[in-house]
Amino acid sequence: MQQYIIGNWKMNGTKAEAQKLAAGFLNRIQKADRPLPHIVLCPSYPYLLPVIEILKDSPIEVGGQDAHFERSGAFTGDVSLSQLADVGCKYVIVGHSERRRHHQESSGIIRKKIEAAIKIGLRPILCIGESVEERKAGKALHVVSNQLISDLPNSFTPHDLLIAYEPLWAIGSGHVPTSEEVEEVMGLMKHELSARISGSALVPTLYGGSVNAQNAPDLLALPHVDGLLVGGVSLKLDEFWEVINASER
Ligand code: PGA
Repeated sequence: MQQYIIGNWKMNGTKAEAQKLAAGFLNRIQKADRPLPHIVLCPSYPYLLPVIEILKDSPIEVGGQDAHFERSGAFTGDVSLSQLADVGCKYVIVGHSERRRHHQESSGIIRKKIEAAIKIGLRPILCIGESVEERKAGKALHVVSNQLISDLPNSFTPHDLLIAYEPLWAIGSGHVPTSEEVEEVMGLMKHELSARISGSALVPTLYGGSVNAQNAPDLLALPHVDGLLVGGVSLKLDEFWEVINASER
């Protein structure tokens, strides 16, 4: 499978910085002399259009960091999935732990977002993962398995969505699980998916949490890792480019 490298810029930067980064990646892509992975950048809402404008004729795609499941209506401050699609987004991150924590997003809401996104042709990137307490209590596999059951819609096809394993304790902390830990959880994810849909091997499963240029090659070489969801490092042109180049394709 062609790997995925996804940059989650979170709530960072200015318009000028977003444009500069996008232009920087475009420049590198144009000069690249090797096959590249799927590259997706997820800027914050106000910078989606300027970034999409810069990347419009390039293979780099753009995604939103979240969205409301309703098409339109009285939801002050929200942005709908169809609005993201309307401006040219192809992906949307759903259920990121920062949304679950700061916005009390339940599995019911996350599932509605995934269903609505698939319906309009946006590919959701579902984020799941255990807390440090859950890992210490030996419950990581149980938590991830439950999240898959409660967050995923009843029916979907392998190309509809991506799933990112992001242990909460790894996000922004500099701590990365061991290869064995990543493989154990992501192997379980693949196994659970195979029990639910045919062609499940084609659902891209990504790892996320403190990815950097040093750990990316080892993570990307793991059998169950089809790509990376990168936060902080995706804001650094040179280092993110190294992560992109660590992909097998
Ligand atoms: P990080 O964030 O790479 O900065 O740890 C990852 C994420 O939150 O998706």
